[in-house]
Amino acid sequence: MQLTLHEACEPLALILGEWRGAGSGHYPTIEDFEYTEEVIIGHSGKPFLTYGQKTKNAANGEPLHSEQGFLRLIGGVRLELVLAQPSGIVEIHEGSFASNESACVINLESIRVGTTPTAKSVQRVHRLLRVEGDTLTYDVSMAAIGLSMQHHLAATLKREEK
Ligand code: HEM
Repeated sequence: MQLTLHEACEPLALILGEWRGAGSGHYPTIEDFEYTEEVIIGHSGKPFLTYGQKTKNAANGEPLHSEQGFLRLIGGVRLELVLAQPSGIVEIHEGSFASNESACVINLESIRVGTTPTAKSVQRVHRLLRVEGDTLTYDVSMAAIGLSMQHHLAATLKREEK
């Protein structure tokens, strides 16, 4: 059955699809790394988008980080993101976006980060995502392991299917 996109999600219709690409990561406490990534952004006809992401080590193809979440659109202007990671980290974000027919910028700031008892400590996360045509780029910064907010990830993905 073909689901109709909820009207609340229409301003973000241009981020829907299957995206694949590559990124690089760093943080003062770890070795720099390169990764490949798949992101699937979908919908169920309700006023939120579904988000699933998987990454692999670019050097040897082994699975790295992955995450699953929901992006809620509130009143046509605000965003709320809930996101869970198998590393025991849960992010709750508030944010905003600006979009037109071909481009969109999404800015998300964590209002809470939860960690399981054995997860690495993460205090805050900032996510900035841009879509222009069939190109998606993002940056993720975090305050973690007792350090101040700083860059962890940047990636560029191409839309392969809508
Ligand atoms: C594309 C997504 C991501 C990839 C590919 C990635 C990859 C990595 C890698 C390879 C490491 C070093 C080895 C390790 O500790 O496992 C690492 C460390 C870490 N990452 Fe990420 N990461 C991603 C997203 C995130 C996000 C969203 C967060 C926070 C919410 C995060 C938090 C951390 C933390 C806290 C560490 C440990 C730093 C330390 O031990 O000093 N990562 N990440």
